[in-house]
Amino acid sequence: MAVKHICCIGAGYVGGPTMAVIAQKCPDIKVTVVDINEKRIAAWNHEDLSKLPVYEPGLDEVVKEARGRNLFFSTEVDKAIEEAEMIFISVNTPTKTYGKGKGMAADLKYIELCARQIARVSKSDKIVVEKSTLPVRTASAIKSILENTGNNVNFQILSNPEFLAEGTAIQDLHAPDRVLIGGETSAEGERAIQELVDVYSQWVPKENILTTNVWSSELSKLTANAFLAQRVSSINALSELCEKTGADVNEVAKAIGMDSRIGPKFLKSSVGFGGSCFQKDILNLVYIAKTYGLNEVADYWEQVIIMNDHQKRRFANNIVSTLYNTVSGKKIAFLGWAFKKDTNDTRESAAIYVADDLLNEQAQIAAFDPKVEEEQMYADLDYLNTRSSDENRKGLSVFKDPYEACKDAHAVAVLTEWEEFKEYDWKRIYDNMQKPAFVFDGRGILDKKLLNNLGFVYYRIGEGAQEAMEVQASH
Ligand code: UDX
Ligand code: UDX
Repeated sequence: MAVKHICCIGAGYVGGPTMAVIAQKCPDIKVTVVDINEKRIAAWNHEDLSKLPVYEPGLDEVVKEARGRNLFFSTEVDKAIEEAEMIFISVNTPTKTYGKGKGMAADLKYIELCARQIARVSKSDKIVVEKSTLPVRTASAIKSILENTGNNVNFQILSNPEFLAEGTAIQDLHAPDRVLIGGETSAEGERAIQELVDVYSQWVPKENILTTNVWSSELSKLTANAFLAQRVSSINALSELCEKTGADVNEVAKAIGMDSRIGPKFLKSSVGFGGSCFQKDILNLVYIAKTYGLNEVADYWEQVIIMNDHQKRRFANNIVSTLYNTVSGKKIAFLGWAFKKDTNDTRESAAIYVADDLLNEQAQIAAFDPKVEEEQMYADLDYLNTRSSDENRKGLSVFKDPYEACKDAHAVAVLTEWEEFKEYDWKRIYDNMQKPAFVFDGRGILDKKLLNNLGFVYYRIGEGAQEAMEVQASH
């Protein structure tokens, strides 16, 4: 049986781009992406492709090619489930905010709702694919729900974690390092795996498609994110030591990255990692380890999060102490709010936490991001519940023009590594700022020499200050 209809529940940052590329590469398969959020579906169907709910370079072109041909976005979940032979679950699995495992475990309520809906609606055999990142052994929970409440149809559960990174989603989907598919080791399981292999092999070389058992697949996704995040926390830990000793973290990263055993990627020191996955998946890993009584394993991985929180706080503290120990009433311009460049996603972005700390110090924040909407920034701050929504609106103003955001500011803080920040007219920015004019580069992207020559006091994460070297020399 070749799959002819695919349904995906969840039209988010993962479901939307992934299904768009499957539809683009498999014109014979009808792909329907459904979501309970009507506004989101309307945005996916918007005539103007710049209004898609997810900003990803190249996504508009893919949607333009496939939408209406074999790619559809809809809120009719039951209908799409019924029609499909293969159903992807790509709904969000946030960290639990209540009860057992609060603040750590993944909240699986949406996954369970999806499973129950699939069970209720299905009248023919289905292959259910977990696309959402899930704790190990979730597949068996889904299977149990499907088998006990279904209409006597057969279900096969596959785990097919998505490794795309936001900002490069289309590139990653077009040419993935690997596609991972986990399934049951029975004959039915193997047949289901093969069905999904056949979908991907329409554009992914066979040798890049890896098949494993379900639990290895589920655990591999958590492990991949934990390893990546760990590299960022490791280099960020060293960035603080660099600042104290006069070393330069970029030079250290380059030197160690040339060791082929270490490799050059994911060694960019920053104001701290963000995104919807790293923190959530590590917390999840920590929770799973604790559940099995593996406290040392849990503590080991938790340290990656502790380091990341420290890095964000340290950045904010450094701004306060450098600005003569007070930012009260001072305008601080934020360049960037997204958790990385080339995305409008702000989930867990370091900018939110740095803003929160500076607002506690009564700073006036003026934010500019090329892709993030004003309301999103307020929603991010409100979500922390640190102060009232009104107070957040008084403390943060959002600008559509970066030069306006920086005007009369005491300091500029770079929170996201958007390319355009490098190209700004920094002389114009300098001329319109309070003096001394400070720049805190949390991404290490600006031209230090140029900024120093213009008169800025420039601070870059992980770069030893001149004074540190002088202190050392005097010892
Ligand atoms: C999500 C998970 O967070 C991630 O772990 C997983 O790897 C992929 O799916 P993402 O696509 O970034 O990532 O989440 P999000 O952008 O929030 O999209 C989820 C969508 O599911 C939302 O649009 C939401 O409305 C929808 N949803 C949620 C449903 O359609 N039904 C539900 O019951 C719950
Ligand atoms: C990550 C994984 O890369 C991807 O495989 C998985 O599917 C989802 O989680 P994503 O969160 O979209 O993807 O982006 P990623 O590029 O991994 O960046 C995560 C965070 O780490 C960002 O805030 C980024 O700025 C930061 N980062 C990354 C650094 O600070 N330094 C680096 O060297 C790399």
